[in-house]
Amino acid sequence: MNPEQRPAKGQKVRDAVAKTYGQAISQGTGYCGDRLCTADSLPQAIAIGYTAEELQGLPRDMAETTFGCGNPLAFSGVREGDVVIDLGSGAGLDLLVASHKVGSAGRVIGIDMTDEMIVRARQNIDAAGMENVEVRKGYIEDLPVETGSADWVISNCVINLSPEKGRVFSEIARVLEPGGQMLVTDIVVDRLPFWVKWSMKLHSACVAGAIGEAEYLEGLRAAGLEGVEVRKRKVYGAGEIEVLLDSGELPMDRPRLWRILAGLGVSPSRQIAKIFADKVWSAAFYARKPEVPA
Ligand SMILES: C[S@@+](CC[C@H](N)C(=O)[O-])C[C@H]1O[C@@H](n2cnc3c(N)ncnc32)[C@H](O)[C@@H]1O
Repeated sequence: MNPEQRPAKGQKVRDAVAKTYGQAISQGTGYCGDRLCTADSLPQAIAIGYTAEELQGLPRDMAETTFGCGNPLAFSGVREGDVVIDLGSGAGLDLLVASHKVGSAGRVIGIDMTDEMIVRARQNIDAAGMENVEVRKGYIEDLPVETGSADWVISNCVINLSPEKGRVFSEIARVLEPGGQMLVTDIVVDRLPFWVKWSMKLHSACVAGAIGEAEYLEGLRAAGLEGVEVRKRKVYGAGEIEVLLDSGELPMDRPRLWRILAGLGVSPSRQIAKIFADKVWSAAFYARKPEVPA
């Protein structure tokens, strides 16, 4: 089903998220936000899990436009000749890293709903001269991908944004071939205050829509996947969250209250960081589709 035909459920959330990321990529914020963006953003990409070798030879702007929370390929066994699907491929960093790993015998397909992201990813793919990568417009809840066609599904900091995570997990199970595998890095949360859920800004910033780790694992199992496990966690402490909020890296405008507090000499980011400290983390989830359907 194409994006224009999606039913209304969750559509408001998807539209708001697409608007935020469309603006974020057009305005040049990303992992390398407006304060952190220096002449060399590679160290920051390395800090979230990419190796210098993986980033070598990629367009310089790639490392600046990632909105990821890890490197899904670091925990996967993607090999030459594999078909890899990247859910919410954004500006395409993981597409290009995967493209090198699968080589000319393999294929990488990115799926994203945001026009501006798709345009940027295609520019990056052209600039890198990769011919085994394509980007398709679509929703991760309704993947425009053939059933049983993928060796690997990867995703980086996207499923937390979906208002219909159960559908996403089912779609992952559908597009994987029997024995196919999944490695997703994503944000998970534990016992955040209830009011966080009301904020669309915090939703787009990958916090308010995030679920707990146990619920995530259960969702993958319920979709029929097996061997489900967490391969790595990166828990965010107060200091890291404060830097993140101040950096402009998160795709959110500052609410008015934020500016008022800042004007009074109170650091809003420090107060929010105290609330979220150690309750928000990035996890690398692994699962595989059974060889024989259960
Ligand atoms: C946080 S960014 C991550 C982008 C990329 N994976 C990266 O690591 O830089 C989220 C991306 O997922 C896309 N996205 C979010 N929800 C989606 C959905 N329901 N269907 C398709 N794409 C979605 C957004 O357009 C955006 O490009």
